[in-house]
Amino acid sequence: MNDCYNKKTWWKESVFYQIYPLSFLDTTNTGKGDIKGIIKKIPYLEELGIGAIWISPIYTSPMFDNGYDISDYNSINPLFGTMEDFIKLIKTCRKANIKIIMDLVINHTSSEHPWFKKSCENSNNSKSDYYLWHDAKNGKEPNNWAADFGGSAWTWNESRQQYYLHLFSKHQPDLNWHNPNVKKEIFSSIKKWLELGVNGFRMDMGNFLFKAKGYPDAPHNKNDLRKFIHGENLYANQPGIHNLLHELKEELLEPYDAMLFGEMYFLTPKSSLDYTSCKKHEVDLIYQYPIMDARGDWNKVKKHIRNYANAFQDKAWNTTTFSNHDSPRSVSIYGDTSNYHKESAKCIMTFLLTSPGTPFFLQGEEIGMTNTSVSDANELTDIKMKGVYNDRISRGENPDMVLKDLSWWNRDNARTPMQWSDKKYAGFSVVNPWLKVNPNYTDINVEKQQNNPNSILNYTKKLINLRNSTETLIYGTFRVLCPDDWTVYGFSRKLNDEEYIIVFNFSSNDNNIQAFQEIKNNSSTLILSNYSVEYDVIDILYMKPWETRIYKVKKHGEL
Ligand code: NOJ
Repeated sequence: MNDCYNKKTWWKESVFYQIYPLSFLDTTNTGKGDIKGIIKKIPYLEELGIGAIWISPIYTSPMFDNGYDISDYNSINPLFGTMEDFIKLIKTCRKANIKIIMDLVINHTSSEHPWFKKSCENSNNSKSDYYLWHDAKNGKEPNNWAADFGGSAWTWNESRQQYYLHLFSKHQPDLNWHNPNVKKEIFSSIKKWLELGVNGFRMDMGNFLFKAKGYPDAPHNKNDLRKFIHGENLYANQPGIHNLLHELKEELLEPYDAMLFGEMYFLTPKSSLDYTSCKKHEVDLIYQYPIMDARGDWNKVKKHIRNYANAFQDKAWNTTTFSNHDSPRSVSIYGDTSNYHKESAKCIMTFLLTSPGTPFFLQGEEIGMTNTSVSDANELTDIKMKGVYNDRISRGENPDMVLKDLSWWNRDNARTPMQWSDKKYAGFSVVNPWLKVNPNYTDINVEKQQNNPNSILNYTKKLINLRNSTETLIYGTFRVLCPDDWTVYGFSRKLNDEEYIIVFNFSSNDNNIQAFQEIKNNSSTLILSNYSVEYDVIDILYMKPWETRIYKVKKHGEL
C-alpha cells in the first residue's frame, strides 16, 4: 500500500461548500453579494459543520463572465469589497476552523487586463508574447476551433493585425504558458494570496493551459461548432502541463500545506491518475464532472463512482459533487421536485456525504434549492447561455426549442440568489438583486428550515456531523453491494473492524430491499434515515420513495 495515499489531511476530511459571492448575501444594498456578506454567514457555515469554503473569483474583473475574467490577479474586486474585508474573512474563517480556497483562473485573463492591452499594441513589447497570437490563414481564422461560449475561438485584432485565441469568450484571451514571464508573474500572485493565509485553490480549466503545437484543425462536425470535440488532442492534456502543475504544487503550495483541486476535462479514471495520483504530486483532487454530465441518470452516477473508486484505490483521493455554479441544481435533475422534494434532496445529500472522497456542494443545496425557469431569451443573463443561444439561432434552430433546451442547462439555475428567508428578495438583499430570485423562496428558505427539525437543512447538518465524527465514512474502503442498474442501491464503508452500510431508493416508488442481507437479521443498527418516523418501525424489507438509511454493522458479539 502506498504511504502517501494513507496520509491523513484536512482536505480529505473537510466538507467543502462553494460560495458564489455574487449571489450569497448583499450587505451593501447593491443587489450583488459581497465579502462582508460571507463574513456574516460564517457562523451559519460553522454550525452546519462545513470544513472548507471555495469562493468563486473575487479578483478585480469587468465581470463579463462573473469574475472568470480577471483583470488584476493581485486585488479584490471593489464590487465585492476591499482587501481589508478579505483579510477579515480569512481571520473569521480561521477562528471558525474553516479553510478558505480561492478560484485560480489562469488559462486566460480578461481582455481588460493591462497585459492584454499592451500585448495588443504591437509585436515587440514586453507583453507581446503573453497571449496566443497568430497570423490570418488565407485571410481567415488560423483554424476551425470553436469557443465554448459560441462562435470561433479566434478574434481579429486591428492594431496587431493578428488573431488571438480565446477558448471562451472574446473577452477572455488565453495566456501563453510557454512564456516564462507569464509563469513568473502568476506564481508571484499566487504566493501573495498564500502569504495572506489562503489554504488552496480551485484551478479553472486545470488541464487546458497548453495548446497543440501548430494549432491543427479540429476534425469536428460543422454543425456542432460549439463543442470542445477532440479537445484531448488540441487543448487538453498537452505536453508541459504535468511539469507546470507539479512545480505549482511542490514549490508553491506544499510549504503552506495548501491544496489544489483541478477542474479538468477529457479524462478517464485511469488518465486522471496521471494528475492526481498522490505520487505524482500535481493536483490533490480532480473536480468530478462525469457526475454532473450524467444529466440525472443515476445508473451513470453509480457506474462512475464504482469506476473511479476502483481506479483510485490506494493511489489517489476522490471527490464527489452534484452541482456547481455551471450546472443545474442537483435536486432538480437527480431528485423529484414535484412529489418528493424534501426526501429526494436528503437522499442526494446522503449519497454525496457517504460516498468515497471529498464532498463538495454549492450554496443552497443544503436547503434543496431548485432550478428556475426562463420563458424569454431576454431573461438569459449568462454570457455562455447568450452566446450559445445566438449561435444556435444563427444556424437555423427553432428559438423556442433552443430556449427550452437551454433553460434546463442554464447556468443561472445555480446562480439565483441564496434563499435566506421569506422576506422580500429572499433576505438576500433589500434591493432588486442582479438576478431574479427563484419564486419558490417563500417555501424553500434557510430561516424556515432552521425552525423545522425535519428539514433538509437540519438533516444535512446531522449528516455532516456524522461524517465529521466518523473516520470510517472518510477513510473507509468502499464496496458496492448490488449491480449498478438496480433502483435500490447500497454500499459499505469499512475501516478496521467498523463498518457502515448505506442504502438508497433512487425512485419515487416503494422498493423491495430483501437482497441486502447485511441489513436483515438485525445485524445492524440504524443510525440515520431521511424518513421522519421512529427508526425501529422502518420496514426492513421495503424502502419508501427516495428513502435512504445509514446502518452501522454490529460487531461480532455486540447486542
Ligand atoms: C469554468 C468555470 O467554472 C466557468 O464558470 C467559466 O465560465 C469557465 N471555466 C471559463 O473560465
